[in-house]
Amino acid sequence: MTYANRAADIHAAIDIEESRYSAANPASKSMFEDAGSYLPGGSSRQSLYFDPFPLFLSRTDGSGVEDVDGHAYTDFTGDMTAALYGHSEPAITDALRDALSNGMSYGGPHAHEVALGREICERFPSIDRVRFCTSGTEANLIAMQLATIITGRRLILAFEGGYHGHMCNYLSPGMPLNVESCRMVFAAFNDIEDMERVVAEHEDEIAAVIVEPMMGSGGGIMADPSFLRALRAAADRTGALLIFDEVQTARFSPGGMQAIWDIEADITTLGKFFGGGLNFGAVGGKIRFVERLSPTHPQTVMHGGTFNNNVLTMIAGYAGLRQVATQSGIEALNAMGDDLRHKLTRIATAKAVPFQAGCYGSILSLHFQNALPVNPKQIETPAALRKLYHLFMLNRDIYITRRGAINLSFAHTEADCDRIADRFETFLDSYGHLIA
Ligand SMILES: Cc1ncc(COP(=O)(O)O)c(C=O)c1O
Repeated sequence: MTYANRAADIHAAIDIEESRYSAANPASKSMFEDAGSYLPGGSSRQSLYFDPFPLFLSRTDGSGVEDVDGHAYTDFTGDMTAALYGHSEPAITDALRDALSNGMSYGGPHAHEVALGREICERFPSIDRVRFCTSGTEANLIAMQLATIITGRRLILAFEGGYHGHMCNYLSPGMPLNVESCRMVFAAFNDIEDMERVVAEHEDEIAAVIVEPMMGSGGGIMADPSFLRALRAAADRTGALLIFDEVQTARFSPGGMQAIWDIEADITTLGKFFGGGLNFGAVGGKIRFVERLSPTHPQTVMHGGTFNNNVLTMIAGYAGLRQVATQSGIEALNAMGDDLRHKLTRIATAKAVPFQAGCYGSILSLHFQNALPVNPKQIETPAALRKLYHLFMLNRDIYITRRGAINLSFAHTEADCDRIADRFETFLDSYGHLIA
């Protein structure tokens, strides 16, 4: 089949799946149109938008979500990894119910923030002190701010395709940025030579190197441990700080990706699931790196934040870590992800469809190509094929992101994994011939 024929066939298949999707979801369509009168583009969170219109959800439970047209789905978006505990983990909902009986929004320090802080410090050897905030974006901004203040330098080295939040979004080259007090320089992800080139160019100017140990929004690409070690060495050599953005990867072990590879970050940022499903961000590190956030430090860096120690977040986060995201719980969930990865790979191999299931443990990134990408430029799966796969799955009770990532949660069961594997197989039976 020629490339042009294949592209035309993919578009014809999209037309079929899109018509079915639109016909099945009139309430979502109408709500989306209505939303456009009040919210820019009908959206509060652009990562949830997809064409022709996103599903509007009405409720969630365990590993499932329901939409306003009355369809039930097995959810593999996992709220973009934030819903690690599923959507209604009893340890968390019970703790929240109890918490509500003592009122909300204390507006003063309380024991629950200390409990969560202690838990995080005990899990991460590189974290002596942690400051809470309200998002991963904010945590990364604080981390970069601290690095510039501590080192007296203004450059931050980040990686092409990295995503550290709204104001630190390096997915789109040339995006007007963002962090006013520092300047960014970029190197290719997983490319030690390119990183060394940029470091050599700016040797004494780099305040920090910021990296995701697994590029999440950039396509679900693991950092090679040798690359992370090279970053550690470059930071040590030049006096820059190494910031690990573990907003997504902290789920892979109690001490995050840094514990798995045995590499200590200077500053670690956390987010998403650590709040038990509520708004969360945190920045932590050795005392010498985060002490400036102390209100009694003579050169304190003022950091307020109305909801930093929100009591519901602190309680939900603590309950999740203590009762669910234990060492054994995390190992079991990673094993479930590995099983699913093997299952999908076996199905694709049997049908001779080019396919790679990347990432680690409980996060799977799917690529319809022969080799696993090691940087975003190597992602070859055409956008049209991703759209076809996405609509196909939505039409068959599987809720996933357009990128096709699978984010498992503690609520998922073997039956859920079998269900997505079954739909995956049906997809390849229907459209596998369109995948080059
Ligand atoms: C690795 C990483 N860092 C930072 C962020 C930003 O977190 P938030 O959306 O809480 O601001 C995200 C969000 O997707 C992320 O994946």
